[in-house]
Amino acid sequence: MTIAPSNSSTIDPAITERHRQKFPALTDKAYFNYGGQGPMARESLDAIQQAHETMQQKGPFAESVYAWLSQELGSTRKVLAQELQIPMEALTLTENVTVGCNIALWGLDWQAGDHLLMSDCEHPGVIAAAQELSRRYGVELTTCPLLATLNQGDPTAIIAEHLRPETRLLMISHILWNTGQVIPLQEIVEVCHAHAPNPVWVLVDAAQSAGALPLRLTDSGVDFYAFTGHKWWCGPAGLGGLYIRPEVFEQIHPTFIGRRGITVDEAGNPAAWQSSGKRFEISTSDFSLAAGLKSAIALHNQWGSAEARYQRICELSHYLWERLTQLPKVACLRTTPPESGIVSFQINSDSAAAANLQPKLVAALEQQGIFLRTLLHPNCIRACTHYFTLESEIDRLVEAIQQWIANEIIS
Ligand SMILES: Cc1ncc(COP(=O)(O)O)c(C=O)c1O
Repeated sequence: MTIAPSNSSTIDPAITERHRQKFPALTDKAYFNYGGQGPMARESLDAIQQAHETMQQKGPFAESVYAWLSQELGSTRKVLAQELQIPMEALTLTENVTVGCNIALWGLDWQAGDHLLMSDCEHPGVIAAAQELSRRYGVELTTCPLLATLNQGDPTAIIAEHLRPETRLLMISHILWNTGQVIPLQEIVEVCHAHAPNPVWVLVDAAQSAGALPLRLTDSGVDFYAFTGHKWWCGPAGLGGLYIRPEVFEQIHPTFIGRRGITVDEAGNPAAWQSSGKRFEISTSDFSLAAGLKSAIALHNQWGSAEARYQRICELSHYLWERLTQLPKVACLRTTPPESGIVSFQINSDSAAAANLQPKLVAALEQQGIFLRTLLHPNCIRACTHYFTLESEIDRLVEAIQQWIANEIIS
């Protein structure tokens, strides 16, 4: 049987081919690690280099550099605000997702006995932050079982069941990094905000959703949305952001504090907090990264809208999922087609060496120029498709897995 991605006829492969040529990393690889880090386009690399050149030519320490930087950062904030559908003032630039989650976590005025709820599919970095917060402030930390809702069940109902009168914050990912499940964010926010006796705020880890899903954050009602540019947006590592809902902005406080977060008086002393999301920015950073991320986002929009890109991501992940489900000894975690670009699967074997098979397969594929990763919870392999993934890349991956299984397990 021949399988092709649905709607594939509407995508001109020549356009995708030309688009891919802009990414030096893609010339000789079959790349499926977008959930870890996206490749950077030549234009983004050049934009960063150009920003450095400009800063060196003008200064680097000079009034004119600061005027230029303020314009550069301003235009990147504008682009991000447009992508996320938020007011520019509600955006804090950070280094990555983890920093954004930490700003929200540590910024709340926690009292001993408060409750923090998170899902059982969060990233170890943010789990560790929540655990330390729990230890330091006597906050009760519990998890709710979203992994079990992958193929059946209602994540919103599970979360609602686990809220308590003392719950102050829910921390969840918009797309679960291990299974690719898309969480019904708006519905969950509504349940949390309507919770009695106190509304529960929602902090979202957007590592796998920003740059992949079309987003309207203001409409979603979410309180905190922590994202990075270096995964699905294919921007440089080291630049991300945090959206804080304007209605809760004054109720969280900066933990790390520096010159970017304040204004100074005539004598040069700290005078006031910044009134925008800049309040949570700290000090000197690699400002050239802003040009790289802005350029990366412009390139995606040249290819198509966020909706069109998401649709293509899902067509391709559907195709990959369908092909994998037909392989012997391979079991996709999902029993229905994916709703994101993440396809996770397990290699099944009765042999005593089963536990080592997945890392062995990933290492063998990397030797052939095919890039995926293993995950520990649940124990699986994760492959990600982007909108510019090629069907031929997917075919190459599936055939390489089939061949490896034939050699290592079946023979
Ligand atoms: C769900 C999730 N959260 C957080 C992170 C960490 O992201 P960052 O390096 O941007 O802090 C990752 C990285 O893979 C992730 O997948």
